[in-house]
Amino acid sequence: MTPPMEQKYMLRSKKGQTGLGAGVWNLGVGSDPFGGPVRESIAILDRLPLLAEAGMTYYEAHDSEIPAEQVEEAKARAAACGISCGMYTPSYFASPIFKDGAMTSNAPEIRKLATENGKKAIDSAAALGASTVVFWNGREGFDFVLSKNGRDVIQRLLEGFNQIGQYAKEKHGDKVRLAIEPKPNEPRANMYLATVGEVLYLISRLDPAHQHLFGVNPETAHSRIAGLDYVWDVELCLEAGKLFHIHLNSQDSQRYDQDLPFGYTEPLKDLALLVVLQDAGYPGIIAFDVKAPRPDEQKDIADVLTVSAQNLVWLWDKALAVDRGVLQSLRDQKRNTAIAGYLAQCLYGR
Ligand code: GLC
Ligand code: MN
Repeated sequence: MTPPMEQKYMLRSKKGQTGLGAGVWNLGVGSDPFGGPVRESIAILDRLPLLAEAGMTYYEAHDSEIPAEQVEEAKARAAACGISCGMYTPSYFASPIFKDGAMTSNAPEIRKLATENGKKAIDSAAALGASTVVFWNGREGFDFVLSKNGRDVIQRLLEGFNQIGQYAKEKHGDKVRLAIEPKPNEPRANMYLATVGEVLYLISRLDPAHQHLFGVNPETAHSRIAGLDYVWDVELCLEAGKLFHIHLNSQDSQRYDQDLPFGYTEPLKDLALLVVLQDAGYPGIIAFDVKAPRPDEQKDIADVLTVSAQNLVWLWDKALAVDRGVLQSLRDQKRNTAIAGYLAQCLYGR
């Protein structure tokens, strides 16, 4: 299933970027909250050729994985294996300093550090040639009500993102866009910016001078953990003109975050999602946020990527073949159940 080195997974007839992306963190050591590493740790820059061999065109990394000082080295290593940085992101969750949040911390000096890190991440992204910086809500949240004042939190987020947006605009024009990624819980009991809707609300309150630089990076599993439908979440982003990036994976019911391969749990919804992306002419990068499962052997660490990519390419082609005229006519005839049947036919039928 693994394609030869030079072969990349590409999405046929897609508008804009046709290659796929994945995070360097996807190829981890298999630790979870209940047990430490089960695989040898692969140095971050050594993961670039693994992602390339797995057929990825783009890699994604946190500032904690590729710090500013390593940007030049990363560029050279990436170029050598024919992969480039699609997205870069500040880690607001790994360092103990952010244990109670970054931009929403009660401590002004931590909020300031978060803003500074956000600006640095924008510079690193620009240097790496990445067009998108993602802000995942990470530890922005609360385990106990009233430990933060929720109304202040909104003001802190507006202040932080306004400063970051202004910096991005002044320093890089429209070159680097900023995509906020929602998640409802984990690592916190409750997270701010829990859903696509919340993120869009926050963006609507940002300074109009740089509001256009802000969008959303929805992750299918995160919508699922929130008990929401990810097709609708993506449609909402598209209608708002705010689908800047996307993280695909799957989630086996509404539990802890599993980061399973794309296409595994809900192929019919995934097919519908791809129909939506195709019809909207989404030009951006499609990336996976999956996790090499703990039981997988070191040598098979990239299976989670090749399985996701193969599923995506198969489903993408099936989505291209979905007859939009048939969909429309079933809608016109008010045959909702028949629409589900037609999608199933496209997926499973001959
Ligand atoms: C973390 C999150 C992931 C997010 C990434 C980028 O790895 O688990 O969902 O996309 O950070 O910020
Ligand atoms: Mn993600």
